[in-house]
Amino acid sequence: MAKISPSILASDLSRLYDQVSMVRNADLLHIDVMDGHFVPNITFGLPIMNALKPIDFCPPLDVHLMITNPSDYVESFAKAGASILAVHVEVEPHLHSLITRIQDLGVKAFVSFNPHTPVSVLEEIIHFVDGVLVMTVNPGYSGQNFIPKAAEKIKKLDELRKQNNLDFEISVDGGVNLDNAVELVNNGVDILIMGTTVFKSKEPQEIIRKGQKIHR
Ligand code: DX5
Ligand code: ZN
Repeated sequence: MAKISPSILASDLSRLYDQVSMVRNADLLHIDVMDGHFVPNITFGLPIMNALKPIDFCPPLDVHLMITNPSDYVESFAKAGASILAVHVEVEPHLHSLITRIQDLGVKAFVSFNPHTPVSVLEEIIHFVDGVLVMTVNPGYSGQNFIPKAAEKIKKLDELRKQNNLDFEISVDGGVNLDNAVELVNNGVDILIMGTTVFKSKEPQEIIRKGQKIHR
């Protein structure tokens, strides 16, 4: 069964508590942290995490760090309640050491990579990670069009996973909807990150339920 991680970037942030309540049946809640350096947009960070922490029905936080210096912040994000921390391969020269630090904090360590970044750069690190987040849009904004070419990398990753007898999870992020989700899951995806599809829907709980029913 696929896990669903709604991205609050597409939510109505003026009503954050209600929006989280609306997606309380999700498996995770996706938090897009953007710094205006690695990506052209600036979003939110630790204060939002701390605001979500006391909400007892809030799904576990799936934090996507789109920042140039993730290594300076992993301890703070772990303390603020992250269940998953995804860092981009494009910005981190000491990925193995950062992954280990994240795991030592009791948090699942994911690596993420942009549409133009080949799967080959992950060949060594996949042995150590808890998951890989595949970007199917250029990071920065919600509501962008899905890039099919970038999604082709999911099959390759799944093959590598099988060949090496590994069990890391694969998540997909950007332009995901209930139509393309079926093929994504068939190709190896475990976690569907969905911003617009969930939060711009009139029935977010129903979208989540339908997504959770998709299986390989
Ligand atoms: C893009 C973000 C995504 C985005 C997804 O940089 O990482 O998580 O919020 O939004 P949709 O599903 O609308 O493409
Ligand atoms: Zn994201």
